[in-house]
Amino acid sequence: MMPNIKIIDVHKRFGDVVALNGVTLDVRDGEYVCIIGPSGSGKSTLLKIIAGILKPDKGEIYFDDSLVNDIPIDKRGIGLVMQDILLFPHLNVWENITYSPLVRGLSPLLVDELGNEVIGYLDLALDKRMYPDELSRGAQQKVAIARALTAGPKILLLDEPLGSLDAQTAKEFRYELRRLVKDLKLTAIHITHNQEEAMSIADKVVVLRKGRIEQVGTPLELYTSPKTPFVCRFIGGEANFFEGSIESREGLNAIIKLKGGTLLRTQTDIPSGARVVVALRPEDISLTRRNNASFPGFNSLEGIIEEVHFLGPYLRYVVDTEEGLVIVRAKRSARFMKGEEVTLSFNVFHIFPYPKEGLRKAIAYE
Ligand SMILES: Nc1ncnc2c1ncn2[C@@H]1O[C@H](COP(=O)(O)OP(=O)(O)OP(=O)(O)O)[C@@H](O)[C@H]1O
Ligand SMILES: [Mg+2]
Repeated sequence: MMPNIKIIDVHKRFGDVVALNGVTLDVRDGEYVCIIGPSGSGKSTLLKIIAGILKPDKGEIYFDDSLVNDIPIDKRGIGLVMQDILLFPHLNVWENITYSPLVRGLSPLLVDELGNEVIGYLDLALDKRMYPDELSRGAQQKVAIARALTAGPKILLLDEPLGSLDAQTAKEFRYELRRLVKDLKLTAIHITHNQEEAMSIADKVVVLRKGRIEQVGTPLELYTSPKTPFVCRFIGGEANFFEGSIESREGLNAIIKLKGGTLLRTQTDIPSGARVVVALRPEDISLTRRNNASFPGFNSLEGIIEEVHFLGPYLRYVVDTEEGLVIVRAKRSARFMKGEEVTLSFNVFHIFPYPKEGLRKAIAYE
């Protein structure tokens, strides 16, 4: 059986810096989990604690039902790829990859077999006699993954494993990585600050912020039901944020009035009079040429196209509205020019109680 990982109320400080502030997380057998969060949010610290490189100040780590807090790294059955790739500099590619099985005392035949198998999996077309300093960062990263795999792990811990690959290679390789983990029936925890990478390969995404878990869910859950403005901004890319308040309520519906006077109608249980934040994703807005005969209804904005950016499959518009600049993502089929008058309409948006810390701080990537 592959291990469940249970992380219970883990805390870790470095002097005055609180790196982890009460993290509780379950990872199931065979699950592919991605941890995302801004720089300094505690991602690497959490991974190092799971690996056994660091000890938590408080809290427990269980693999299945065994407490592993005092189990050393080499007895945890993990394969580890660190953020700052640490290949053995004095060993060549082949020696790096086969280091672990050799140390474990596998027969030369088995070592050969395992090494070649992993190289095959990863499609590593490298001269196996090259030394780490002769390889690109991307190639080093692949060798590091290969080396982690030949350790025969049940759990694969990967800290920014694709961070040094060029964008296109990283995009292709992430699917291979997931396939590999699933084929080998491993449990994987993969850190990235690329939300698109996390969304596209994870069974479950963990959003870490300032040493705490902000939300855990499937990629779809995080995208469709973000619990906080921060998750909404971090998942799915550029959201538009507006401030407003609940103007009135009628049954399950509420009327929201934005700062610039725009009226929205949606279902929410936030009480009348409360200040709110509304998040609107660029891809949830549709643009039409403005028709002066129509009344401005609920859930729409009038604006003027300020900027048009061509992004290949779609266009990105910056539209000047009474609520400020709004970003809209639209298919290429309907084209608008700078200066054109448009109506923005939308049915899907997200509403949050106004954060105590203020909107700017609540969505800051610090
Ligand atoms: N060994 C250390 N000594 C002192 N402070 C540390 C140490 N390791 C981490 N920190 C601090 O703890 C906080 C969390 O660091 P961590 O490396 O876990 O963040 P991260 O989410 O991995 O960031 P990044 O995306 O930049 O890799 C940061 O403020 C960092 O400066
Ligand atoms: Mg890190």
